[in-house]
Amino acid sequence: MIHRTALGDSPTDDQAIAADDVARLIAEESRPAPAGRPWVAINMVTSLDGGTATAAGVSGDLGDDVDTLVFAALRSVADVVLAGSATVTAERYRPPRADPERAEARTARGQQPMPRIAVVSNAGDIDLDLPLFTATDRSSRPIVLVASGRIEKSRRERLAEVADVHDAGDEAVDPERALAVLAEAAGARIVLCEGGPTLNGLLLAADLVDEWCLTLGPHLVGGDSARAAHGPGIDPPSAFALHRLWRHDDELLLRYVRRR
Ligand SMILES: NC(=O)c1ccc[n+]([C@@H]2O[C@H](COP(=O)([O-])OP(=O)(O)OC[C@H]3O[C@@H](n4cnc5c(N)ncnc54)[C@H](OP(=O)(O)O)[C@@H]3O)[C@@H](O)[C@H]2O)c1
Repeated sequence: MIHRTALGDSPTDDQAIAADDVARLIAEESRPAPAGRPWVAINMVTSLDGGTATAAGVSGDLGDDVDTLVFAALRSVADVVLAGSATVTAERYRPPRADPERAEARTARGQQPMPRIAVVSNAGDIDLDLPLFTATDRSSRPIVLVASGRIEKSRRERLAEVADVHDAGDEAVDPERALAVLAEAAGARIVLCEGGPTLNGLLLAADLVDEWCLTLGPHLVGGDSARAAHGPGIDPPSAFALHRLWRHDDELLLRYVRRR
């Protein structure tokens, strides 16, 4: 059972929600595209001590099955799922799973039946043997966002065989340009960034994050994995308001929205 805590002036009391309701409730959350760019949501899972990966270098064991449900539900509201090259490699990304029921709901909302996956990599140096690039049953080609001054011609050509390659910066991928490319090339109005910490840090530093979803798993992992966002500091800190507080066993599933 998942427990939902009533927030703010909500007239409803705390209540239990069923796992079957997770996708619907997340789809009902408001995500209006700001003027000139898509809405940007980040979804991360961390340990109690702020770790983003276990000693194995991946995040899978940090969250439980309800975190997996939230992960899938967020994907099903996104037009594009964005991730850094290191995450795509570490987490062995594959094409999004087909789900006829979700596809129907997406089409009814005017979205493509499945989200596109977009990978950020300056030099396009990504393992092309990943299932993301090799699966034969995928519904669309992945997008790769690169820096024009960093990628070699031969690498661009090789990537273009398996993905749609777009320039999104000169010496480094620029997050604003990346979002503009995703709006133009994939019609993105909602971009879900799944990390990692480096990519999150770039988006935060440019104040492009509208929503921060965080699953706090009941574990301590120690180690030296980065915090959920890593990079230039932000001064003053950007403020967020709590919009969702769910608990499943000892895990918290939180949604914060940027105060603008
Ligand atoms: N707990 C969670 O929810 C979660 C979520 C995601 C990932 N993770 C973990 O996080 C780790 C990977 O995260 P990460 O922070 O190392 O990498 P990342 O954010 O996944 O990817 C960073 C990559 O972005 C590219 N990039 C493009 N523009 C850039 C710029 N201006 N500055 C810097 N980099 C730029 C670089 O690619 P190129 O080197 O190709 O140029 C860089 O390697 C993995 O261990 C993964 O398991 C955890």
